[in-house]
Amino acid sequence: MTFARNISDAILDKSMSIIKTLEWTDAGVCFIDQTKLPTEELYVTCKSYQEVADAIKTMIVRGAPAIGVAAGMGIALGVRDSKAQTADELAPEFEQICKVLGATRPTAVNLFWAIRRMQNKFAEVRGKSVAEIKRELVAEAQRMHVEDIAANEAMGKHGAVLLPASGSVLTHCNAGALCAAGYGTALGVIRAAIESGKKIHVFADETRPFLQGARLTAWELMKDNIPTTLISDNMAGAIMRQGKIDAVVVGADRIAANGDVANKIGTYTVAILAKEHGIPFYVAAPIATIDLATPDGSKIPIEQRASTEVTHLAGKQIAPEGVGVENPAFDVTPNKYVAAIITERGVARAPYDESLRELVRGCLDSQWKPVPPG
Ligand code: MRU
Repeated sequence: MTFARNISDAILDKSMSIIKTLEWTDAGVCFIDQTKLPTEELYVTCKSYQEVADAIKTMIVRGAPAIGVAAGMGIALGVRDSKAQTADELAPEFEQICKVLGATRPTAVNLFWAIRRMQNKFAEVRGKSVAEIKRELVAEAQRMHVEDIAANEAMGKHGAVLLPASGSVLTHCNAGALCAAGYGTALGVIRAAIESGKKIHVFADETRPFLQGARLTAWELMKDNIPTTLISDNMAGAIMRQGKIDAVVVGADRIAANGDVANKIGTYTVAILAKEHGIPFYVAAPIATIDLATPDGSKIPIEQRASTEVTHLAGKQIAPEGVGVENPAFDVTPNKYVAAIITERGVARAPYDESLRELVRGCLDSQWKPVPPG
């Protein structure tokens, strides 16, 4: 893995106001290092699929859609650099690469969606020469990248109409450009609302313990000059009670067939607070996050992370040595708290087992396309 220059200019495409989270390059897969933001703007180039897997595990790259695209690129990189002479030699190596990437993080279903998409592509082109297979898989990973940005932009347009002409939106974790190939899911909805002329102020939960809200959401919104107020997680209820929040928009790591939503730990608390205060709670996520094979939220695997994320802050110990710790990285918000699920193909409302199925119908894995709103 190589660390490089300051990325301010390289990684921000100013014309489109899009922060580039990751990029395919000849040297490898390039990531903005999300563990270093906001104090250092560095990027790293992963030169092997194992390095991409490490980048996902250590959260150099994070956020469900970004993890999916990263895995696709990791697979493409592993295949590109294979020494196999024939497709038959390449096949077991390909499966091993998929296995390593599939063992990185368990909750975001986009990871498994991306691996399946690459597996489908491999099966489709297996009869070709090794050189052609390599080209096809690299192209497929690059397509995923482009499609993810297009999906986020379409999602933004579908969701923008749900936000008030003027008001404040609370978000949790980072569901922005940094969680995806660009533009963002929840923050994409906010960006699209602002682009359509709405006056939106964002309240960002800091999002303990990994602080994606404080470190990443605040950083990327400020880059875009979007008015932002950072609050600690335990302030959300009081701020809602003061009438300062008009809507909540969050992302998702996996949405079960019945509309239960797994997202960053603390999302469930925000959803209940929103319900109590009569504030609509929206979830913005691509179709790739909808997992119709998982019937409800109780079946979603929840990643447990290291206790040091809770006992330490910026590397400094803040809790007594040896204290018992729980660190589930995600929670599940039951569908009854979700006012709508915003996707690139439109907005789903309860009953979700019907509306989600309807949205997903016709979306073959390798052919999904955003649907323009209106
Ligand atoms: O642990 P992380 O930072 O990968 O978790 C990310 C989230 O929970 C995001 O809210 C989620 O992936 C939605 S991004 C579309």
